[in-house]
Formats: sequence, C-alpha cells, structure tokens
Amino acid sequence: MKTTSVKAYGTEAPEADLKQFNINRREVTTSDVEIDILWCGVCHSDLHFARNDWGMTQYPVVPGHEIVGKVTKVGAGVSKYKLGDLVAVGCLVDSCRTCANCKDDLEQYCGAWVGTYGGYDKHLDTNTHGGYSETIVVDEAFVLSVPENIDPAGIAPVLCAGITTWSPLRHWKVEKDSKVAVVGLGGLGHMAIKLAAALGAHVTLFSRSSNKVQDAKALGADKVIISTDEAQMEQAMGQFDLIIDTVPYAHDLNPYVGTLNTNGTLVVVGYLGPLDPMLVTVPMIMGRKAVAGSLIGGIAETQELLDFCGKHNITSDIEIIKMRDINTAYERMLKSDVKYRFVIDMKSLKS
Ligand SMILES: NC(=O)c1ccc[n+]([C@@H]2O[C@H](COP(=O)([O-])OP(=O)(O)OC[C@H]3O[C@@H](n4cnc5c(N)ncnc54)[C@H](OP(=O)(O)O)[C@@H]3O)[C@@H](O)[C@H]2O)c1
Ligand SMILES: [Zn+2]
Ligand SMILES: [Zn+2]
Repeated sequence: MKTTSVKAYGTEAPEADLKQFNINRREVTTSDVEIDILWCGVCHSDLHFARNDWGMTQYPVVPGHEIVGKVTKVGAGVSKYKLGDLVAVGCLVDSCRTCANCKDDLEQYCGAWVGTYGGYDKHLDTNTHGGYSETIVVDEAFVLSVPENIDPAGIAPVLCAGITTWSPLRHWKVEKDSKVAVVGLGGLGHMAIKLAAALGAHVTLFSRSSNKVQDAKALGADKVIISTDEAQMEQAMGQFDLIIDTVPYAHDLNPYVGTLNTNGTLVVVGYLGPLDPMLVTVPMIMGRKAVAGSLIGGIAETQELLDFCGKHNITSDIEIIKMRDINTAYERMLKSDVKYRFVIDMKSLKS
C-alpha cells in the first residue's frame, strides 16, 4: 500500500524521552479521510502508555488521542466530510462494526476496537500511531465533526477527557439537581465538573489539593471537599447519586463509597488495576451502592458531546505547548501542575 512519511513524536522505550522520528501514513482508501493535525491534547493515558504503566505497550509509540485538524484529502466514497472541514479524532479509529456493542453505538466495548495509538493497524500491519504527528488517516466512520463556533484548541480535550466523563454522566442519567461528585481535579476532573454543571447537577469536588478550591468553583463546582481531611469526609456521608473517580493511581475507594446515597454509584474511570486496599462490601450491601467502571465513549456519543459543547460554549481550560516541550509537560502532569490540560500546537512539529 502506498504511504507517505510524516514527522511524529514518540518513544521507543519506557524510560526514554519522547523524540522526533518519521512514521508512515497510508494513502486514503475509499472510505478514508486524511487530516492535517492542528491541535492535540495531552492525556494522562498518553504518559501511562509511553511509559508502559499498563504492561502492554509495543514500541515505538506515538501517543495522542485528542486530535483536531482540517481535512486535506478524502477517499472516493467519503460522504460525511469534504476538504477544509474542521474535524476531530478521539481514542478509537476502528472496530468490528458488526457485534452487539458496535450496533448499540458502544464501539469502545467492541472486542476488536482499534485504539488511535497502540492498536493494530490492519492496513499497514503495524501499530496505530496517534496525534503527536503531522497528519492522520482515519475511516470517516470514526471521524467527528467539530462545531465551527468554538475554539479548536480548547475543544481537543473533549475527545478523551470530555467523553470519558460525559459517558457516565449520560449513562447514569444525571440531570438537573442530581448530586454529582468528582474525585481529582486534572484533565478529566475539570471536564467532569463543567459538564455535570452544564447538565444542571449540584457538583462537589473531592481533591487532595486545597489550592484548587477557587479553580473548582470557577469551573462550576458548588462545593470542594479536601479528601485528606477526615472530618470533611465524615460530613459528606450518604449524599451523592454519582461519583466519577479520575485518580490515575491505586487508592482507597472505601471512603468515597460511604459518601454515596442509597442506589448511588461510584464510577472508576482513572485507575486500571487491582484495588488496594480492597473494597469493603458492607456499605454497598446496606445501601444498594455500586462501584462501576467506564471506558471513554462511542462515536455517536462523542458527536453528541461535541454538539453539546458547541451549543453551550464549553471548552477545556488549556495550556498550549510546543511539541518539543512534551517531556516537560509529562513531568508537570505527574505533579498535577497543569491547568487543566496541555494541548500541543502541532504547527510546532512542522516548523
Ligand atoms: N476510563 C477511560 O476511558 C479513561 C480515559 C482517559 C483517561 N483515563 C485515565 O484517567 C486518569 C486521569 O487522567 P487525567 O488526564 O485526568 O490525569 P491528570 O490530569 O493527571 O489528573 C489526575 C488528577 O488525579 C489526582 N491525583 C493524581 N495523583 C493522585 C494520587 N496519587 N492520589 C490521589 N489523587 C491523585 C489529582 O487531582 P487533585 O490534585 O485534585 O487530587 C490530579 O490532578 C488517568 O489514569 C488516565 O489514564 C481513563
Ligand atoms: Zn485519554
Ligand atoms: Zn464490534
């Protein structure tokens, strides 16, 4: 298959810094869209994957799944997009399209979903490579339309941080006056606050960081609870319909389960792995409380969110960086030193 060599940024080993190298992008097939990448958000998953935190990374890795760009080429059979359209690609670039999950617009739960990076690229028989690159070629079924009225850099994090928190808000039917709590104020957490507030919920943030109280309120939180303060945690018992936990590392979920009301659900989106300490079932049984997980969102739901953001003028709070500053950005993300999402100006890779 004909390919084009383009510049990208990635890594060849878990302990190595990200650096520039070239990757191949396929020529558009009938149903493909070629995108000139303008902006790419930096997700904590990019860092987990580059550093093999989940033990499944194959190198080289080119991270990036919060992609916004302009259409530069379309295949002969493409009907949804034309040259110059502002489009986006999130965490998925393909799935089997025939299983029950795919038919239910839940491609993220398809057994054969293809991640934007680190998935299997059937066209080139390599790993898929993500948005830290000049261009990307994606089947139109996995390309999203970006509202033209909104800042294209600020919308990029909606493609992962946004949809990962929107999907549980929708699934657990959050509406006006729902009591929602968010654990951790980072990329996912700040989108969760904005989106839950836009749905009319009463929103509380649990944070380790007392210096984030003002920011959380400006983002739309009604209340902030410092999670390391036992007295504040005690006062929060039995209140929440839904808690979205975005913390990336193993931590004790039990204190948060206690703050759910009867029938409440704690949805873990941040941490992937065994719990330590273990879950105590007593409050779950005594109050029909649930602990659940959730993975990003399907294509239709992501488009729904982009349209919702266009309508309500919601974007992420971002700090724009140059491609060459990505290693410093990762170190800062590990220290929670980002307000609240880095977005790479991809022009900086071209020049
Ligand atoms: N389920 C999915 O589909 C999905 C999708 C995207 C990302 N993720 C995962 O979600 C997690 C969060 O991603 P992100 O991009 O939002 O990360 P982030 O920007 O680094 O934010 C994480 C936040 O968690 C809190 N935190 C960090 N370390 C902590 C620790 N050791 N103990 C307690 N709290 C801690 C901090 O908030 P405070 O300072 O306020 O406490 C921090 O700002 C990552 O693990 C990522 O891989 C999952
Ligand atoms: Zn992500
Ligand atoms: Zn499927």
